[in-house]
Amino acid sequence: MSISQETIQAVQSSIHIEEVIADFLTLKKKGQNLWACCPFHQERTPSFSVSPAKGFYKCFGCDAAGDAITFVREIEGISFIEAVKYLANKYRIDIQESEPHTQQVQQEKDSLYILLNLAKEYYVSTLWGHPEGQTIGLNYFKERNFAEPFIKKFELGYSLDAWEAFCQFAKNKGYKETLLEKAGLIIQKEHKTYDRFRGRVIFPIHNVSGKVIAVGARMLNADSKQPKYINSPETDIYRKSDALYGIFQAKHQIRQEDSCYLVEGYTDVISLHMAGIANVVASSGTSLTEEQIQLIGRFTKHITIVFDGDPAGIKASLRGIDMVLEKGLNVKIVLLPEGEDPDSYALKVGTTAFQHYLKAQAQDFITFKATLLMQSAQEDPIRKAGAIREIVQSIAVIPDAVKRAVLTQQCSKLLGIDEAVLNAEQNKLIFQKEQEQRRRGERSLHAHTASMMLASKSEPGHKLEDSIKAYERESIRMLLSYGNAPIEDEKLLYSYLLQELEEVHFRTPEYRKIMEHFQHQLDRGNVADATYFIQHQDEAMRKTAIDLTASPYEVSDHWEEQHQIYTAKEEDDLHQTVFKNILRLKLRLIQQLIEENRAGLQNKLEPEEEDKLLQIHTALKQSETSIAHQLGIVIW
Ligand code: GTP
Ligand code: MN
Repeated sequence: MSISQETIQAVQSSIHIEEVIADFLTLKKKGQNLWACCPFHQERTPSFSVSPAKGFYKCFGCDAAGDAITFVREIEGISFIEAVKYLANKYRIDIQESEPHTQQVQQEKDSLYILLNLAKEYYVSTLWGHPEGQTIGLNYFKERNFAEPFIKKFELGYSLDAWEAFCQFAKNKGYKETLLEKAGLIIQKEHKTYDRFRGRVIFPIHNVSGKVIAVGARMLNADSKQPKYINSPETDIYRKSDALYGIFQAKHQIRQEDSCYLVEGYTDVISLHMAGIANVVASSGTSLTEEQIQLIGRFTKHITIVFDGDPAGIKASLRGIDMVLEKGLNVKIVLLPEGEDPDSYALKVGTTAFQHYLKAQAQDFITFKATLLMQSAQEDPIRKAGAIREIVQSIAVIPDAVKRAVLTQQCSKLLGIDEAVLNAEQNKLIFQKEQEQRRRGERSLHAHTASMMLASKSEPGHKLEDSIKAYERESIRMLLSYGNAPIEDEKLLYSYLLQELEEVHFRTPEYRKIMEHFQHQLDRGNVADATYFIQHQDEAMRKTAIDLTASPYEVSDHWEEQHQIYTAKEEDDLHQTVFKNILRLKLRLIQQLIEENRAGLQNKLEPEEEDKLLQIHTALKQSETSIAHQLGIVIW
């Protein structure tokens, strides 16, 4: 971490969430809150609410929720620290760095960012302002039909055909050769120093927040023995395997469309933009890495890979796609006609036809792979068996069991192979994989799905369980919303509540955690409130706190009816509300103990044991009746 805690706090206390969000969305006031269509899922009527008073947003459609920092993180796809920096900048708060060591590393990185930005500006101004840039560079782009707004949007540039034009320019600005070399912009060899990029058009590579971290440079004449593209080497700010060309220019559209096109090259990205398709990134000629998949996954779970029409190339990249499936992303494929890449094909058929083609030709990856492999295996039984295994392997890595089942069914039809055969093969692979993971001490890939299935089976007494959860939730809600409010004899609500619940151990982990944390803070003399938890580093607690303090009328009417929680009057008579809630919680807890005790009585027991359980039963029943009496309920 390189930002001091004080800066983070200063930012948190200066933020007005509605101002932060208004930079991204148009908000309309309705009641206490502001509303907009949610940027995190597709919708036509606004269910995204912003509460200026509470300092958080919540979407009732997709459950997205958080404070201003979370919002900036999510919408920009950046880290916590980057979001704090963004907000500090917006509110003109000075950023204090924390530790000296990390400070130095950060300073070095910052100077690389500054230098790369300078280089970009230099190449851009050479393209537009220098005669050589205009006649050679700009002409090249014009010949390829790159429209001006897109040349500008991607900050394309030109590097003069000279040995040290940029090097001199940067040195005149006071930059040292060592830094220029570290940034990969110049090359030092046998006491000679020269520009890395010469006589080429420049494609700056931006990180997700828009800073230039490297450049790609394309040669202009096809005849040379030189490579077509040369790129920056890896530096402290550029790791090839992390970067995705076009992510900065695409991210908002990727989120909006909830899908992302993946193409191979720089020019493909720009061509798709010109064809009105802005949700596109390029892997720069290699297959996707884990980091790149994760980066896309921050914005969408749907990726469409556009393949050039080159059958050998496609087969080679099929394997790599399994990793994308493994990360839980949905993959579609669009295959272009042979010999075309997106850039050439878009130029050839025009925008409308190209857009239509991408939509119409997209097919699910697994069925695409199945068709392709079976076609090339033809009637050769051995190759056919190999193809089937390959396909099953791809299905087996998908984490979602339901998706696996659907795909297996489809492939069974497509390949004319019994579903049971495919399933058996698949289970074998999953089993092998799990064994391997267990050996390595990792959590099972499918454990999550398995536990979900177990959890959804209804168990006896699960209604009681739900009810207990609801009253625990209600207790925490009262605690966070009204903790400091006086209730009777000037006693504050929190101390009454904690005293009453002293013996009660919350069953729901998320509420228990908040309870414990509250107690912990209290021991240090702080009475934590909703805001404290909403701003907490711990994401789970933050989410719970937001959920709890969002207006209950909006959250669920049903829930109130079912559990007889009448929030309308609560502020009028906090004492009654909290008192009744605690009683109801205790009533349900006792009823659960009665259930458990009853279950114990079903077992074969020694007479003394049975006697003991019966006594417990009687005592519990008495408590139940007494509480019920206080609540005015009749128990049969
Ligand atoms: P144009 O030929 O200008 O349309 O470029 P393209 O983007 O279509 O290039 P191509 O399909 O030949 O290659 C796809 C991507 O692979 C490029 O965008 C580059 O990122 C990368 N690439 C291609 N050739 C080279 C090369 O010679 N060196 C390096 N480092 N990368 C290359
Ligand atoms: Mn091309």
